[in-house]
Order: sequence, then C-alpha cells, then structure tokens
Amino acid sequence: MVGPVLVLESDPGLQRRLAAFLDEGGWESILTTTVEEAVAALATTRVAMSFVGTALDLAPPGAALTHLRRQGGDPGPIVVLGNPDDPGVSGEQAADGTEDRLSTAFQREDLERMIREVLARPRKRAWTSQDGDTTERLRREVALWRSAQMQAVWHVVQQAAEVDVTVLICGETGTGKEVVARAIHHLSTRQREPFIKVNCAAVPPDLLESELFGHERGAFTGAHQLKLGKFEAANQGTIFLDEIGELHPTLQAKLLHVLQDGAFSRVGGKSTINVDVRILAATNRDLERAVVEHRFRDDLYYRINVIQIVVPPLRDRREEIPGLTEYFAERYARAFHREGFQVAPSAIERLTRYRFPGNVRELENLVKRMIVLGDPLLARIPFGHGGEAAGAPGSPTADVGGRPVARMTTLAALPLKEVARQAARAAEREAISRVLDETGWNRVRAAKLLKISYRALLYKIKDAGLEQVRPAWRPAT
Ligand SMILES: Nc1ncnc2c1ncn2[C@@H]1O[C@H](COP(=O)(O)OP(=O)(O)OP(=O)(O)O)[C@@H](O)[C@H]1O
Ligand SMILES: [Mg+2]
Repeated sequence: MVGPVLVLESDPGLQRRLAAFLDEGGWESILTTTVEEAVAALATTRVAMSFVGTALDLAPPGAALTHLRRQGGDPGPIVVLGNPDDPGVSGEQAADGTEDRLSTAFQREDLERMIREVLARPRKRAWTSQDGDTTERLRREVALWRSAQMQAVWHVVQQAAEVDVTVLICGETGTGKEVVARAIHHLSTRQREPFIKVNCAAVPPDLLESELFGHERGAFTGAHQLKLGKFEAANQGTIFLDEIGELHPTLQAKLLHVLQDGAFSRVGGKSTINVDVRILAATNRDLERAVVEHRFRDDLYYRINVIQIVVPPLRDRREEIPGLTEYFAERYARAFHREGFQVAPSAIERLTRYRFPGNVRELENLVKRMIVLGDPLLARIPFGHGGEAAGAPGSPTADVGGRPVARMTTLAALPLKEVARQAARAAEREAISRVLDETGWNRVRAAKLLKISYRALLYKIKDAGLEQVRPAWRPAT
C-alpha cells in the first residue's frame, strides 16, 4: 500500500478502535481529531486513503470532506464513518465522489474488507486545488476539448498523468501543447510540486546548459555565484522541455544521461546531483525526420517518446472554434474592461471556416483584437494574411466569409494609429517571412539578419501565426 491511512475522527473511543484494527492489519495510520490537524498532516504526507468521521464539530458535518480537498490536501479515497441515519454527509459526499461509508459498529473484518475494496479500485485523480486560479482556468480550457480528436487526447492525458513516464507532445504551433503538459502535471501525483517550463529554442545554446543544469561559482567568466538549474528547481515535480527539437547535440547527450540515471552535474561542477523529475517534452517539428537526418539522437528520441500525444491543428477540430471564441471573448472582455462584449454569431460562423495557420493562439489573438477594436462583427479586422487568403467559400483554405479581404478599404475605416499599427505589422510579417525563407527557417540567423533578439523573433513568428511551409511536423502513424 502506498502511504499510511489518515483517520480524522473526533470521538476518542471510535478513533482508538480504528487505530487498533489498522495496526493489527499492518497498516500505518495518522490519527487526527480536527480538520486543521488533518490538513497539516496531508501537507507533508501522501496518504493512501482517509477515514473521516461524521461526529466532527463542523456544520454541516460533510463540510470536512470539501474542506480537506480545498486546502490542497489529497486525502485519497475517503470512507465516511457513520451510520446510515446520521445527518449530513450524503449531499457533500455525492459532490465529492465519495460514496463509501463504514458503519461505526464496524468489526475488524468490515474494516479490512473496506480498505481492500477501496484500494483495489483504479484511482481517479482530482485536479489539484493548490493554486485555485490556475487549476480552474486549466479545467475550463480542457473542457473546451470537445472534438473526438481532443477527447482522445484527454483520455491519454489522464492515463499519462497516472504514471511517471516521459511524454512527447507533438503538434503545430499554437495548438495547445502547453495546455496538455500542464494538464498532465496538474492531474499527476506531482501536482503539488513545481511545474517548470524551459523553452529550448528561446535560450541561446551556450546559456541553455547552465539554465537547465545550473553552474558552480567560477564555472565560466561571469559565473560569480552558484546557480541552480531548472532540473534542480523541478525536483519532485515536472519539467516541461518545450521545442525539444532545438536542443544542441551536447545537451542532448546530457539530457539522455538524466533520463537514464536521474543524475547530472552542474556546469563546472564535479559532484553528481540526483533529481527526481518527470519530463514532458514538446515539439512542433518533425522529430522523427530530425533523427533520420542525424540532428536529433535516436537513443534520446526513443527515451522521450514513451507516450506520444499528437495535438491536432484547429482546422481539424473546427467544432471547438465557437466554444474557444466565447471563452476568449469572456476572458479578455474582463481583462480589458469591456464587460459584456460578445462576438456576433455571424462572426463566429465565419471563424469556423477560417484555416487558422496559427491555431488556437491565432484565434486567441484575433479575439483580443476584436475586443480592443470593439469589432464584434469582425467587419474591420483583416485576417487570413497574405498568402493564406481567399479560396472557395467553405473550403478549408477559404478566407473569412469566403471573400478576399479588401485590406485598403478596411483599413480606411480605422483610427489612423490603428492603420499605422496594422500596416507595420503586415510589413513586419512580410519581412520576417522572407528572411525565414532565405535562411531555410534558421531562426538564429534570421534574428541576426533582422537585427532583433532571438526571443523577439520567436515571439513575432508566433504572434503572426507564421508557419514553416514544408511540413514541420507530421502525425505519427
Ligand atoms: N483548449 C484551450 N482552451 C483555451 N485556450 C487554449 C486552449 N488550447 C490552447 N489555448 C491557448 O492557446 C494558446 C496557445 O496554446 P499553447 O501555448 O499551449 O500552444 P503550443 O502548442 O504550446 O504552441 P507553440 O508550439 O507555439 O509553443 C495559449 O494562449 C493557450 O492558453
Ligand atoms: Mg508552447
């Protein structure tokens, strides 16, 4: 059995009997008499399950259950100690999914049978409530996965959360790979530990090693102090290696080592550091091809690719577009103080036909723009930029409304500042796209040529919904 049994029971006699039986059965127990004690115990110990009495000085009695969970504690499956005619618990119980009840007149065999039964059941893990806002947002976002494809993703996410395996999350830019990674973490046993994200493409290669693994004082010029890396920061928790396809060969070797032994040394350090970290990785590139072309180590690829989740592009799950649009509209209307803003049904209908090369992120940015410009009808915002424009109405490449956007007339109806901003954006997008083509999507070189930082370039690529034309990634078959 994993961990002790928590007992929360204020009646001393009942508690003593329970403790004695548990002890005889070889179960370790933690005895608490108040909810506060129980919460404190759960903060430091992972328990297998809990027995909660109804005789607590709490009104209504069942509030203890809700309280335990709200405090971020994970009591595991809960068995309520009480008699069928005890008041209270049932309503709360149903809400919390706890249905087990043990009569206070229990015998040793009853107790043992109950424990065996409860622990034999596959465990449904609840979302962590440690950081209410994050969890609540994640829960809502995951609920928007309505298509059959995303339901399948959800199924794998839940299973992957149960075990500590490495997961490779693939998909085009902006599809929601990070949402998937966070969902796995927040549903896993590590949910109360850190979730640390590292974008392997956003940090220049020479700095990434120290970013990931830390460095000792004096390891290189400028290393005045010892610095802990992300792996150490993520200890006990999850590290999310975004854009793993961009990882430099030296670091690929080092990462492989961590995956094999859970050990590494800091830059400039001799001693070995051991960590217990679950690795999630994401890529919008074709990693298999990178392996074939010897740009990515095959041994590392196989280590990472234990479970692969492919997040489909938004255009392949158009039925999610209305829900996502409304979600973003509500969220950003609040954030931008435009409460009550609603995207017009006709605009939503047009959105469901757009191709969304930048996927959910592009939709999100579009809704933000609609709110800022007060354009619920989507009448004044040109999109489906440049090359991806008009096709036959309803065809997958059709522009919004199936008609080409008359950019000049559209812009003339806008405030001059906005005209300038949009023109600048379009020009920027064009320049970036050209340089990326010229450099064969070598983003380091492209950033140099454009004289902007690498990070800024990545941001702009994302923001503009630019996409590598050759299939950057193809679904695993
Ligand atoms: N189901 C969803 N509900 C709400 N928002 C979502 C959903 N999926 C994605 N998003 C939002 O879309 C944006 C892009 O998602 P995310 O960052 O997870 O994509 P990504 O696949 O990691 O993209 P990239 O490859 O560019 O890093 C984020 O702002 C995210 O919050
Ligand atoms: Mg991402």
